[in-house]
Amino acid sequence: MANRIDRDEKIDLTPLLEVLANRFRPRDDQEAYELIVGACQEAQRLYGWVPPEAAQAIADHLGVTINRVYGLLTFYADFRTEPPGKHFLWLCHGAACYVMGSSRLIELLRDRHQLVDHGVSPDGELTLHVFNGCLGVCDLAPVIQVDHHEYWGRLTPERLEAAIEALKRGDRLEDADGTAG
Ligand code: FES
Repeated sequence: MANRIDRDEKIDLTPLLEVLANRFRPRDDQEAYELIVGACQEAQRLYGWVPPEAAQAIADHLGVTINRVYGLLTFYADFRTEPPGKHFLWLCHGAACYVMGSSRLIELLRDRHQLVDHGVSPDGELTLHVFNGCLGVCDLAPVIQVDHHEYWGRLTPERLEAAIEALKRGDRLEDADGTAG
């Protein structure tokens, strides 16, 4: 999800409560435990992350402790317990991208933007996930997929910096320096 949700924004629990009431009806404690992950996935689908209010609503609905919900939320790396950044960067760190310098991109994001794997930049603009597989576009290596649909290819730290600035300005990437792949 590309839209950032501010920490201070009040979460409307109505859609989650409807889904829980319609689809999550445990018959016993064991079933309630087994439904926690699915309920958290629904919350993340609805909000882009699992806000504390949603975690509490899930615990209340299933009759489990909030600690059990957070135990699973922190166990599975795909769950977000912080609001996502406005833009999502999926940085490929597979073999071809590694050889072509993806480590330097990771360093730039860490040193210049305080952005680490599964983190959000302090300005709330960027979320980063580093992917150790292959995004399937090795001819663009090193490459970052942006907001789930666009690729920045053949990146150098300088080109990445320019692309991020363009993204924050809302410019089309081609207008920055032809960074788009
Ligand atoms: S290794 Fe990065 S796209 Fe294939």
